[in-house]
Amino acid sequence: MCGIVGYVGQRSALDVVMGGLRRLEYRGYDSGGVALVVDGTIHSAKKAGKLLNLDAELAENPLPVAHTGIGHTRWATHGAPNDVNAHPHLDETGRVAVVHNGIIENFAVLRTELERAGHDLLSETDTEVVAHLLHDELARTPDLSDAVRAVCRRLEGAFTLVICDAEQPDVVVGARRNSPLVVGRGDGENFLGSDVAAFIEHTRDAVELGQDQVVTITPDAIVVTDFFGAPAETTEYHVDWDVSAAEKGGYEWFMLKEMDEQPQAVADTLLGRHSPGGQLQLDEMRLSDDELREVDRIVIIACGTASYAGLVAKYAIEHWTRIPCEVELASEFRYRDPILDKSTLVVAISQSGETMDTLMAIRYARQQRARVLSICNTNGSTIPRESDAVIYTHAGPEVAVASTKGFLSQVVACYLLALYLAQVKGTKYGDEIDDILAEIAAVPAGIQRLLDEGDQVRKLASDLSGARSILFLGRHVGYPVALEGALKLKELAYIHAEGFAAGELKHGPIALVEEGLPVFVVVPPKGRDQLQEKTVSSIQEIRARGARTIVLAEDGDDDVIPYADHLIRLPKVPTLLQPLVATVPLQIFATEFAHQLGHDVDQPRNLAKSVTVE
Ligand code: M6R
Repeated sequence: MCGIVGYVGQRSALDVVMGGLRRLEYRGYDSGGVALVVDGTIHSAKKAGKLLNLDAELAENPLPVAHTGIGHTRWATHGAPNDVNAHPHLDETGRVAVVHNGIIENFAVLRTELERAGHDLLSETDTEVVAHLLHDELARTPDLSDAVRAVCRRLEGAFTLVICDAEQPDVVVGARRNSPLVVGRGDGENFLGSDVAAFIEHTRDAVELGQDQVVTITPDAIVVTDFFGAPAETTEYHVDWDVSAAEKGGYEWFMLKEMDEQPQAVADTLLGRHSPGGQLQLDEMRLSDDELREVDRIVIIACGTASYAGLVAKYAIEHWTRIPCEVELASEFRYRDPILDKSTLVVAISQSGETMDTLMAIRYARQQRARVLSICNTNGSTIPRESDAVIYTHAGPEVAVASTKGFLSQVVACYLLALYLAQVKGTKYGDEIDDILAEIAAVPAGIQRLLDEGDQVRKLASDLSGARSILFLGRHVGYPVALEGALKLKELAYIHAEGFAAGELKHGPIALVEEGLPVFVVVPPKGRDQLQEKTVSSIQEIRARGARTIVLAEDGDDDVIPYADHLIRLPKVPTLLQPLVATVPLQIFATEFAHQLGHDVDQPRNLAKSVTVE
């Protein structure tokens, strides 16, 4: 949701800023812009559309060489995605340039005040008010950092701001409330970015910023204060991946690369969690075993794909620990006055660690005295920082907007949490936990097989690329897989796709089935619960009504053969682990389907990778 970059140093600021924006483009791609400070003047360029348009603009109208600059890639909130609303926004004298991520909730009041005072605002954005407020503030307070602090005290809502000033050429100032901003520490140069990808090419040393802080970077210093100027404590960390992880590495799209990284992501998420003595250890678990033993209810909150990982977790947690568990969309959670207390464990799942709906939900949960554990892929991000405990998924950076390895590693982290709780609560013996961990550890080979067999799924996607509606059915943990398969297709192919619990079909959705409608069905492994048999019956019911059935069933399940128009074989895994394999062909299908339609696989329309507005 908007990517922001700031730079001061000796290099070409334009090169650094544009390089950073390219790595952040996944956050938003409605428009892009840069501002550079040269000889007491701000030079800026901005353009609607992807960064390619800004590149073309810069080629046609080059900017002078500069060593201080800021940049922005936008996901529009206030105002259409056009050139005028693109960031940076300047004050009327052109002294300051501002880029912003978030929503300034009191911008209408501030805008009216500014207009009454004679300011002429050009755009429809909430951001532009900041440039004009800074103009007025700098008339009273010549130091940019002081002026930014004074303006921040007047703003409500969520904002990351990065600002440069024509009159202070070696300074870039950033501020953050509720939206992400990290500092990159260089040698004779410093960086600001919405995430470390912005500067990973230049440094892996980063500084976390806390809530309501202002950071001033010069080539040789990083100074962090609160909004009132008091020095603030910061945390430094070293990023454990390098620039190659943030690049396509020969793949056409990040999404293909990230799908291929799934066996590794699953293995890495398991790595180091199980001691030779058989005890499961979660290093980032800052809740004591006694505190965990008090937990009598678990509430999982998350959005989108992460919420489907949460649905899988519910089955595992209740089965292995017997602790009641519910799953709720983060955006709905705090508005229903949920009943929470200190024996409730709230589990927040977020790949980015910055999703605003999830962040607001955990803040609410903590106010209600619930304990919060987050499952997150982004070290140093806000959600884990504000949690009582965190389990990091070690998937590496996920750049494609549609989540793939993020999802599988979240599911693995959920299993780890469930097993850890089972260990602490004594609902599973050590050897049972060992057995399950060994089964999870064997899954990457199965994922690899499905990736290797991807051509048959790609062929299917090409055959079906004329379809305008596709359904996905599953039962038990296959239900969240169906939801995930449908979401991937909606995101990438922009067609109607819906996931249903197969048993629910007869209560309404079966009316959608008509001649030739493609329907994917995830068949559970055979077991004592008869779910496999019931799912096979559902396949027969839809096929009798003309559906074209695409059946995902484990090796050796021959019951499905007569009813499958197309059969995708899954490696044998225990029922609870099936999402780790069954999701993979659905990812491949969505990717190829979108490709056949000529869509941008990594950057689907209207979306952004990390949704930092409510
Ligand atoms: O970063 P998060 O895991 O909190 O993001 C949550 C959702 O926005 C995200 O999973 C979204 O649904 C993906 N684009 C799905 O592919």
